[in-house]
Amino acid sequence: MTGELSRSRPRRDRRNEELFARVAGVLGALWRLRLELGLVASLVCGQLVLAGLVGDVAAVVLVIALAAGLLAIPVVRRWLLWALRAARVRRAWWRAWTDCELPRVRAGRVSAIPAGELVRVRASRGSSLEAVENRAEELAVCLQVREVRIARDADNAATGTVTLVRRDPLAGMKSVPWRCRDAEELSLWEPIPVGVDELGETVTVCLPERNVLLGGEPGAGKSAALSILVATAALDPGVRLWLLDGKLVELSVWAPCAQRLAGPDIDEAIALLRELREEMEARYRELLARGQRKIAREDGLALHLVACDELAFYLGCEDRKKQREFAELLRDLVARGRAAGVIVCAATQKPASDVVPSALRDLFGFRLALRCNTPQASDTILGQGWATLGHNAATISPGQRGVGLLLAEDGTPVRLRGFHLTDGDVDELAGRAAALRADDWLTAAEETTR
Ligand SMILES: Nc1ncnc2c1ncn2[C@@H]1O[C@H](COP(=O)(O)OP(=O)(O)OP(=O)(O)O)[C@@H](O)[C@H]1O
Ligand SMILES: [Mg+2]
Repeated sequence: MTGELSRSRPRRDRRNEELFARVAGVLGALWRLRLELGLVASLVCGQLVLAGLVGDVAAVVLVIALAAGLLAIPVVRRWLLWALRAARVRRAWWRAWTDCELPRVRAGRVSAIPAGELVRVRASRGSSLEAVENRAEELAVCLQVREVRIARDADNAATGTVTLVRRDPLAGMKSVPWRCRDAEELSLWEPIPVGVDELGETVTVCLPERNVLLGGEPGAGKSAALSILVATAALDPGVRLWLLDGKLVELSVWAPCAQRLAGPDIDEAIALLRELREEMEARYRELLARGQRKIAREDGLALHLVACDELAFYLGCEDRKKQREFAELLRDLVARGRAAGVIVCAATQKPASDVVPSALRDLFGFRLALRCNTPQASDTILGQGWATLGHNAATISPGQRGVGLLLAEDGTPVRLRGFHLTDGDVDELAGRAAALRADDWLTAAEETTR
């Protein structure tokens, strides 16, 4: 009797557990389908209420007419379709993390972006968004998307965003004209719009106290990206431009705005850098006299922008002594120029250490990696390890000129399509900048003679 009791109790417990799991499963499924069920329930309730007033058939007709009427309103239709899509995404996310056996990661607000969807998420206690990031590939398989990107909020480790990348919004994008193409005057102290990201938002960089290294295979769009930075500096009459162009044809159009231009000649380039170094030393003496550690916008002191296209040309010079001198002068400007207002922007195809000494390369704070042939080449530009974290410029297709990964203020590379200036735009901008500088120079000359 006691033996029968002890055998039947575990069986009954098991049955209860199974029943409980089934009920929980059904309730969970109903809860996840709450929006759809809620909509159907409202229609049924509406029909029941109306049936008491106008009869069954008329109530059905009225409810259908009302629903059709509401759906005919574009705002309501759009809202409903979006709410259903968001609910579908949340359900898919729930299934994905349960299938990947991850701790609970609750999905919140879902928003549509050109690449797919952006989902706000909250990790459960004892878990982390980093653990979710490590399973991004499996999650992408479960969700059947191109890529899953996880970014945690800077101020709260529990919350963040998950980007479900379904398509490459930059792939079909035609060349995007520069936002400041028609500007009369610009300031290099202000953020410079350089491109659009996958969310369709403008990406900017703020250059004071920074240096930029641009890299990528031939024809990837380095000179085009560099010309946007040069154009901004040229349209700021307070900026002094120093140009080094290993090809001569890329930057010579800006010559009337430049303090000095060096072509594919190492001696010219060294002379330019020496002159700039003297300016830098003079600037530090001036700062010392003013009791300042670095220049500020309100000081009225000029920023110096050094733009160097085809850096490898100068660093690959056959004369080893000159090559070393060039590298040392540039390294010194990058290393010490920040507080004096010297900004160096250099472009080269592959800044490997046999081309660009790592003592120089590692000093560049901002990096733009345009299309590269290999993940190693991408890491050479952005820094070691980014390719394995999914930020790999070798995944950019060869036809996507001007698409790249920008590593700037955020500290994480941002995929963008750079704005593009046609040759006509560059000519027009260079003419406008030269006229602006001439006006500025004349006004200053008049003031001194008065
Ligand atoms: N942002 C862009 N949008 C659209 N097209 C672009 C963009 N950037 C570059 N291109 C196209 O790619 C071509 C090559 O660009 P660019 O000369 O800047 O390449 P590069 O990387 O400097 O090449 P190289 O290493 O040979 O100097 C341009 O003539 C232009 O047609
Ligand atoms: Mg070029």
